[in-house]
Amino acid sequence: MTTSAIVPPATLGILGGGQLGRYAVMAAASMGYRTMVLDPDPSAPAGLLAHEHLVAAYDDPDALRRLAFDCDAVTTEFENPPADALDELAATVVVAPSPAAVRVAQDRIAEKRFLVDNGFPVGRFQVLEGDDASIDASLVDLGAIVKTARFGYDGKGQRVVAGVADTVAAWAELGGVACVIEQRLALDTELSVIVGRAASGDVEAWSVAENTHVDGILDVSVVPAAVCDELADRAVGLAMAVADALDYVGVLAVEMFVADGELLVNELAPRPHNSGHWTLDASVTSQYEQQVRAVCGLGLGSPAMTAPAIAMVNLLGDLWEGGDPDWAAILDDPHAKLHLYGKAAARSGRKMGHLTVTAPNTTAAAARALELRAAAAR
Ligand SMILES: Nc1ncnc2c1ncn2[C@@H]1O[C@H](COP(=O)(O)OP(=O)(O)OP(=O)(O)O)[C@@H](O)[C@H]1O
Ligand SMILES: [Mg+2]
Repeated sequence: MTTSAIVPPATLGILGGGQLGRYAVMAAASMGYRTMVLDPDPSAPAGLLAHEHLVAAYDDPDALRRLAFDCDAVTTEFENPPADALDELAATVVVAPSPAAVRVAQDRIAEKRFLVDNGFPVGRFQVLEGDDASIDASLVDLGAIVKTARFGYDGKGQRVVAGVADTVAAWAELGGVACVIEQRLALDTELSVIVGRAASGDVEAWSVAENTHVDGILDVSVVPAAVCDELADRAVGLAMAVADALDYVGVLAVEMFVADGELLVNELAPRPHNSGHWTLDASVTSQYEQQVRAVCGLGLGSPAMTAPAIAMVNLLGDLWEGGDPDWAAILDDPHAKLHLYGKAAARSGRKMGHLTVTAPNTTAAAARALELRAAAAR
C-alpha cells in the first residue's frame, strides 16, 4: 500500500453503470468504500446497488462536478466515457486508468497505431478515414472485416466483406465514419489475458481464458486455456508489456487471436472484462476487487485460482424468449453459480447474466455449464 492510498470509507466513482460496474460496486462496498455511479440510464445495473446513482449524461457538467467533489477516486467500467470528461475529473481527483490509456482503447485506429508503434503483434489492417477510400485490394480480396473505430461492442459496427466494391458498400452502410479494415483471420482459438497493474508498476495476471464467440458476442470462456504453457506464458507476457507501455493503472483486458500458432492482439478493454467474470467464483481476488485495489493504491491481491478449472457461459436475452428461464437446475448444482444483473428488459443479444461451473478440468466444466444453460430455457 502506498502512503497516498485511498482507504475505506472513501468514495469511489464509476463511469458507467453496467454489470462490470455493478460488480465493482459490490467489491468496493464489501471493502467498506462508498460508491457513486454515473450513468444516464435510471435502471443501470450498477446504479441500483451504488450508494448514489447520478442519472445524467457522461459529459453533464453538474454530474462531473459532483463526482470531482464527492469522490476520492474515479474509474470506468466501459471504454466510451468522453475522454475530455476524464481529463476534467483528473484535474481534481485520482482517475485510473488514465484518460490517455482510455483514449487509446476507445478508438480502434489509435489502438492499432499504439500497438504497431510499440512492436506488439497485430493482424493485417488498413485505416479508413476521411476521404481516403483507396482500399487495399490485396487485403480485402482475402476476406476482411470493416469495424467502426468508435463505439463498437459485441460485434456491433462490423461488416464482413470480400473485395473492394463490397468494402466500399459496407463502409457507406456504416455511415462513412472512421473505420479499420482487418483481414479476416482463420483463428486457431481466442484468448484473453486480464491484468491488474498498480501505479508502482506492480502487475498481476490471472490465468489465460480461452474464449468462444457466437455472432461476435462472447459465449463461453474456459480457464485455464487449453494451450501449451509456452503460448500461455507468452500471452501473459504480452498483456503485461501492453499494460507497461500504457503505464496502465487498474484492470486491463487484452483480447488475443491465435492464428497459425501465432499470438495477435485483437483489442484492449480498459476495464474488467466479460471473460474475467469467473474470477468472482474461482480466484483469490476477483478482477473487480483488483480494480478497486489498483485504483485506490492498495497492494494488488493474488490472482491465484481456487479451483482447477472453471467455465463461464453468458446468459443473453434470447434465453428469455419462451418466458422467464427456469433456474432450478443451476441453483441446485453445488458447483454452479448463477449471476443475474437485474436488467428488466430481455432483448435478443443483451447480456442479462452468466453462470459459472467449476470442475476438475475445463472440458467437464464447459459441458456442464452448457447443459445447465440449455436446461434453463423454457
Ligand atoms: N479480424 C478478425 N478475424 C477473425 N475473426 C474476427 C476478427 N475480428 C473479430 N473477429 C471475431 O469477432 C469477435 C468480436 O470482434 P471484436 O472483438 O473486434 O468486437 P467488439 O465488438 O469489439 O466486441 P467486444 O468489445 O464485445 O469484445 C472476435 O472476438 C472474433 O471472434
Ligand atoms: Mg472484442
